[in-house]
Amino acid sequence: MSLLDEIEPLKAEALAELNAATDQAALDHAKGTWLGPQGRFTGLMKQMGSLSKEDRPLAGKSINAAKGELEAALQTARDRIELAAAAPTEPTDFTAPGRRRTLGKLHPLTQVTEDIVKSFRKLGFAVADGPEVEDEYHCFDALNTPADHPARDAQDTFYVATDGRPLLRTHTSSVQIRVMKEQKPPVRIIVPGRVYRRDTADATHNPTFHQVEGLYVDKNVTVADLKGTVEFVFRDLMGPKTQIRFRPHYFSYTEPSFEIDFANALTRKMGKDWLEIAGCGMVHPAVLEEVGLDPEEWTGWAFGFGIERIAMLRYGINDIRLFYENDLRFLRQF
Ligand code: DAH
Repeated sequence: MSLLDEIEPLKAEALAELNAATDQAALDHAKGTWLGPQGRFTGLMKQMGSLSKEDRPLAGKSINAAKGELEAALQTARDRIELAAAAPTEPTDFTAPGRRRTLGKLHPLTQVTEDIVKSFRKLGFAVADGPEVEDEYHCFDALNTPADHPARDAQDTFYVATDGRPLLRTHTSSVQIRVMKEQKPPVRIIVPGRVYRRDTADATHNPTFHQVEGLYVDKNVTVADLKGTVEFVFRDLMGPKTQIRFRPHYFSYTEPSFEIDFANALTRKMGKDWLEIAGCGMVHPAVLEEVGLDPEEWTGWAFGFGIERIAMLRYGINDIRLFYENDLRFLRQF
């Protein structure tokens, strides 16, 4: 049999084997058998040299054509096997329920803070902030709190260094000073933020907690504005039947100063007529002067309250430390 006659049957045999391969191993084997360096088809090509000069062109053409066909078949088989490997081994059940991802939630303190911010936004208040590492000037002096005031004692305040006396702010009131120095009135801001005090942790105290400060400075601002604003916000937060009352108090940065009590179904459930919730007052003339505002021209009010306390009342939480422990059994309830 001449070489030319061998091409077609050999090709047919090789094609059959390539097309029959159902996995990568079978395909590799077929490729080696036919097209590898020692392969049978490769062997055929090697015999070209023994052909006569006349037979060689025709044989070369046929062999190349056959080789092209085999390589195409090899690629087809490769694609087919790859596709089969990627296909699911089990039938898809399109009626099965989808897979759910576990989503995290906002911390209860964040949720309450967002609600407080939302309420004040309705009245045109903007959110401001300031540094947690403060200086004595913004935290105390500019707020009319003298050097011998107990809050400035190292027993009550975390001092970061003795040099220059930087400290961790004990209240968000420090931001009042920063904002009034930056911004001409009318000023209408609230400041939610973290504060620090040297308290031993127990059910109602923690060395870090959160406050919201509010400040409104304009012409002819009155206690009536203050009371109306506080009433609106607490009703928004704690229910429309919430009652508010002001009791005279003392803060060095306000005059007059008040403590705010509230009453609603919640306080009655706790067996109390009134619960203390915030401090407030008319911004002290000395504070206005300190930030370069003429107290004859400008008046303002300010308030501050604790966010944890609001959250504890709202959700009936009896231990403040639960907020900071990140126990999922606690957090998942909000
Ligand atoms: N800074 C006070 C505190 O930490 C709260 C407070 C009282 C803020 C009266 C004020 C205010 O702005 O006018 O308890």
